[in-house]
Amino acid sequence: MTSRLKKVELHCHLEGAAPPALSLAQARKYNIDVSEYLKDGTYVWHDFASFLECYDKISEVYKSAEDYALLTETYLAELADVGSIYSELIVSPDHGKRIGLGADAYIEGVCEGIRRAREASGIEARLIVTGERHFGPDSVVGAAEYAAKAQNPLITGFNLAGEERMGRVADYARAFDIARDIGLGLTIHAGEVCGAFSVADALDVVRPARIGHGVRAIEDSALVSRLADLGTVLEVCPGSNIALKVFPDFASHPLRKLKEAGVRVTISSDDPPFFHTSLKREYDLAASAFGFSDAEIDQLTRTGIEAAFVDEETRQALLARI
Ligand code: ADE
Ligand code: ZN
Repeated sequence: MTSRLKKVELHCHLEGAAPPALSLAQARKYNIDVSEYLKDGTYVWHDFASFLECYDKISEVYKSAEDYALLTETYLAELADVGSIYSELIVSPDHGKRIGLGADAYIEGVCEGIRRAREASGIEARLIVTGERHFGPDSVVGAAEYAAKAQNPLITGFNLAGEERMGRVADYARAFDIARDIGLGLTIHAGEVCGAFSVADALDVVRPARIGHGVRAIEDSALVSRLADLGTVLEVCPGSNIALKVFPDFASHPLRKLKEAGVRVTISSDDPPFFHTSLKREYDLAASAFGFSDAEIDQLTRTGIEAAFVDEETRQALLARI
């Protein structure tokens, strides 16, 4: 349906994009039992907490720099195949440390995957380093310090993901100060599992250029106006929101209402195989479930490029392709 449209994605967790067949092959390679988390080609979870547990367990079957290169190259090739020209991948150097690979080797593997994919298809990609709330504020500060120290030109953003119900944004403010000081673009998961207050918190404490999800801002009309006035871009992931039961169905999902209220919105797939989706499906849903015309979908894509954490030359080159 949207096959001929160019696509961009600002919100996808690298390990969340792992195809189940690849994760199974990895688990076999390292003799890791994932049968509780991966059955019949499908990731197994039943609520947000068990999704995060499943995500963390599956991430552990990617162990070497080459594993991360392969995972990155595989996902970017899939994106390029459906007309994607730009991708921002959310990565966790702290995860590299936790699995004993080390943050540098983890990031080097991912960057190698980006180089291979760019060479094969021309797709551009950048990395957003994330901290994860459920590993605590110190680990989030560690992620920001890593991003500052790495001085890697492909690392252009900083995010906060994980268990949104753990702590308030203020508990993680120092990490955002570090990331802001070195010029990284800022985005933060909010208004997904927690209500509108978490989006207000993010604006009050961090004032990021973008918010991951942010869709529960719809519960507070003054907050929706504030987002529109500030020009904050929401990285909306409808398929993820329905899979995690943030909204019961697409008919009650607020993507269109937010756009009509003047909020700048984009669409992404978040953790595609975990949520039985893909970027292509999200674009198709924009048409079939939300009734957007091709011109309106191109506008979502353009907003994504305008809000991308890239240098101006790359941004203009991407805009010229829409
Ligand atoms: N980590 C991976 N996917 C996530 C999501 N949808 N929300 C918060 N943290 C995540
Ligand atoms: Zn996310």
